[in-house]
Amino acid sequence: MAKLTLIAGSANPRLAEAVARHLGIETAAVEIGRFPDGELHITIQQSIRGDDVFVMQSVSPPVDLHLIELLFIADACRRAGAGRITAVLPYLGYARQDRRASGREPISARLVADAIQLVGYQRIVTIDLHAPAVEGFFTVATEILSAVPLLAGAIQPLLPPDAVIIAPDLGAVKLADRYARRLGLPVAIVHKERLSGEMVTASRVTGDVRGRVPVIVDDMITTGATIEAAARTVLAAGAHPAIIIAVTHPLLVGPAAARLDGLPVRRLVVTDSVPLPSDFHGPADVVSLAPLLAAAIKRLHDQRSLADLRGYR
Ligand code: R5P
Repeated sequence: MAKLTLIAGSANPRLAEAVARHLGIETAAVEIGRFPDGELHITIQQSIRGDDVFVMQSVSPPVDLHLIELLFIADACRRAGAGRITAVLPYLGYARQDRRASGREPISARLVADAIQLVGYQRIVTIDLHAPAVEGFFTVATEILSAVPLLAGAIQPLLPPDAVIIAPDLGAVKLADRYARRLGLPVAIVHKERLSGEMVTASRVTGDVRGRVPVIVDDMITTGATIEAAARTVLAAGAHPAIIIAVTHPLLVGPAAARLDGLPVRRLVVTDSVPLPSDFHGPADVVSLAPLLAAAIKRLHDQRSLADLRGYR
C-alpha cells in the first residue's frame, strides 16, 4: 500500500501537527519561502514518489496567499511523482461567492474549485462548507464533514432546558435545525439583510425567544455583523441576556472582537479550522477538529467509507 504523507500549508500548522500526532506520523518536510520580489517558492524536502499525499491548508486570511500555496504545493507534489493528492481544507474560503449577486462579477467559488482540481487535487475533504451548491463546483470526490456533532456536544452541558437555537439568517436555518435535532431544542429564525461586507441589518425574529437562553449558530463569524445583529434582535424580543454562540470557522476579522465584546456573550464555542487571530483576546472554547480529520484521512487512505464520520443527520 502507498505511504500516507501529510503536508502542511502555512495556514494552520498547529492543526496539521495535531492531525499528524493522531495519525502517528510527522508532517512532511516542506520549505515555504519567498523570492526577493515576493514570489512564493515551495520545496518538498523529502521523496513523495508514489505516496498517498494529503495537503492540509485552510483557505483563510490572508486568503489569496493561502490559496496560492495550496495550488503550488499540489503542483510540486504532482511533479515529484505523488501517487494521489488530496486537499484537506478545514476551511474553504471563497465559498460564499457561489453566484452572481449583481452583474459583472465572478463566481469565485467556482473558479477556486476549478483551480484546485486543475493543479491535480484528486479528492477534497472539507468541513461545514458554506453552501451546499459549492460541492457541485467540484467534479472530483468531495468528502464534506461537519463539526456540528462536536460543537453540539461541547455546548450541551451549558444549556438550560429553556434554550433556543437561533438561525441568524435564512441561510443558517438548515444548520440550526441540525443543532436543534441533536440538542432537542426549538429553533427561532432572525431575518437578516446584508448591506455590505461589514454591515447587516436584522428586523425581526420568527419563533419564541422570550425568557429563553439563545444559542446562535452559524458556519462562520467573519466581521461579527451577523452574530451581533442576531443577538440584538433576539435580546430586543426578550431573550435571556446570556448568549451562547457556536460557530465552525472563527475568522474574526476587523470589528468582530469589538462586536462580540459589546454583547452579553456567556460562551463562544468554535473549532480550530482556522487559528484564532493573534489580536483576538476574548474568551473562546476551541474544539479541535484533529481527531475527526485524522480519522477521515486514515479511512480515505485505507479506502474505507466515511459515512458514519460525516456528522450530517
Ligand atoms: C453568511 O451567509 C454566513 O453564514 C455568515 O453568517 C457570515 O458570512 C458571517 O459574516 P459576518 O460575521 O461578517 O456577518
